Amino acid sequence: MQKQVDYSGAVRTKYPEQLVIAIAKDKDGRANPVTLGWTMIASGKPPMMAIAVASKHYSVECINNSKCFTVVFPSSEMADAALFFGSKSGRSVDKFAEFDCATEPGKEIDSVLLTDAVANFECTLESQLPAGDHIIFVGQVVCSHINTAGGKRLYTVGPGHKLGACS
Ligand SMILES: Cc1cc2nc3c(=O)[nH]c(=O)nc-3n(C[C@H](O)[C@H](O)[C@H](O)COP(=O)(O)O)c2cc1C
Repeated sequence: MQKQVDYSGAVRTKYPEQLVIAIAKDKDGRANPVTLGWTMIASGKPPMMAIAVASKHYSVECINNSKCFTVVFPSSEMADAALFFGSKSGRSVDKFAEFDCATEPGKEIDSVLLTDAVANFECTLESQLPAGDHIIFVGQVVCSHINTAGGKRLYTVGPGHKLGACS
């Protein structure tokens, strides 16, 4: 049986929700990481990934500037980084200067990878679609990386940006 409720009441049932950190460089060449829960694999052949970024976020300028971005699957050890990157704007803060997080250069695109993440995907910007207050960016994956040490992915496990691993 189903009971009609308002949208916010129904969408609260979504957890656990995967999360990624997307990284793109701004016009000064500074890499800006942003934490995103609204993301998906969008194509298998060729491989593509999609991210929904609020139009007001600095990341929109960065992605449009560099025409490429990294999609990172953070590990369950990276909750503090995900919360920092997801609460400060690159418009006013150099997030990688303020939060100690190991990075390495991308192999195929002008962006960076997060060394301790479970996986990193280098994407070239393929298309974008305005969706209400967000913009959906679709990127073609041109290079993929995994952590040789393994590790568990980080998820949002409950409301209020409660982050953790899933079993
Ligand atoms: C767990 C978590 C999930 C988030 N998911 C999204 C998302 O899907 N889309 C989005 O635009 N912002 C999302 N945010 C908020 C942005 O990460 C945050 O506003 C960030 O500071 C924007 O940075 P920027 O201005 O440098 O782009 C999320 C934040 C957290 C902590």
